[in-house]
Amino acid sequence: MEFYNVNDGNKFPKIALGTVDLKGAKGVQSIKTALRNGYELIDTSTNYNNEGAVGKAIRELNIPREHIQVSSKLPGANHEYDKAIDAIQESLYRIGIDYFDKYLIHWPLPKRDNYVEAWQALVDAQKFGLIKTIGVSNFLPEHLDRIIEATGVTPATNQIERHPYFNNLDLHQANKDRGILTEAWSPLGRELNDLLENKVLAEIAREHDKSIAQVIIRWNIQTGILVNVKSGQLEHQLENIDVFDFELTQEEMELINQLDKGKEGLVEGQDPREYEEFD
Ligand SMILES: NC(=O)c1ccc[n+]([C@@H]2O[C@H](COP(=O)([O-])OP(=O)(O)OC[C@H]3O[C@@H](n4cnc5c(N)ncnc54)[C@H](OP(=O)(O)O)[C@@H]3O)[C@@H](O)[C@H]2O)c1
Repeated sequence: MEFYNVNDGNKFPKIALGTVDLKGAKGVQSIKTALRNGYELIDTSTNYNNEGAVGKAIRELNIPREHIQVSSKLPGANHEYDKAIDAIQESLYRIGIDYFDKYLIHWPLPKRDNYVEAWQALVDAQKFGLIKTIGVSNFLPEHLDRIIEATGVTPATNQIERHPYFNNLDLHQANKDRGILTEAWSPLGRELNDLLENKVLAEIAREHDKSIAQVIIRWNIQTGILVNVKSGQLEHQLENIDVFDFELTQEEMELINQLDKGKEGLVEGQDPREYEEFD
């Protein structure tokens, strides 16, 4: 595994295990399989209803805490300061760990306009020792600037939707300009589109004797982006981290960038300006 350094001095693997739908006994087994086979960073969220499974997998494997990184996210219902601090502690109790390696505000919810308060809570939770690295998710440049100006603290990462049909390169540039590491979510399009059958990607994959999934993950890494990719199957989990022995050419990178469909490419049409999640 290779790592990225972030703006607070900490470092994270270039590939994390996404965990949407990995829950219950089956989810525990899938997460354990990933941790046994090279994954070191787990991306969960209170809203995925699987923080318990993440904790059980970690406990059952008995891996030293410092060899595993856990990242979770603050739900929309907890943007108020006290609620946010309680939510972070409750999440830690559910997982059975003392601190998060990384913790993000899941969505900015600009219509409710409480994300500055939520960010202040994360800044303080970091001081209290509950979180090592604080970041955000689905934040646009205007949201980033507002929290930075209000608190003087720049998020370390911004986790955003990104795959070849919605490459989000402008937002990635905005993150970079502010010293923020971009993380990609739904890098494979969550099987909601035909990305894994795309002809351009298939041709590039054939050239390198790799799969389309591997090409997409490599394209992210060569763009300097941390990839959160979900798989419940050993075969896919292994495939998705076997991406450090080949290099896409500049021309191939550009061909993939050209697959962008703008907003039409969003997997579920979730625009951070509008998107509301109240749980
Ligand atoms: N911050 C946010 O708002 C946000 C939003 C969405 C997601 N996320 C995070 O990002 C993670 C990834 O996104 P996602 O779960 O939406 O979708 P994804 O990772 O793009 O796609 C997951 C799907 O692709 C399949 N898959 C995985 N590897 C494959 C391979 N090598 N070949 C063929 N199929 C493969 C998986 O099936 P199998 O399980 O059968 O392998 C699963 O159905 C999430 O799990 C979550 O942690 C964050």
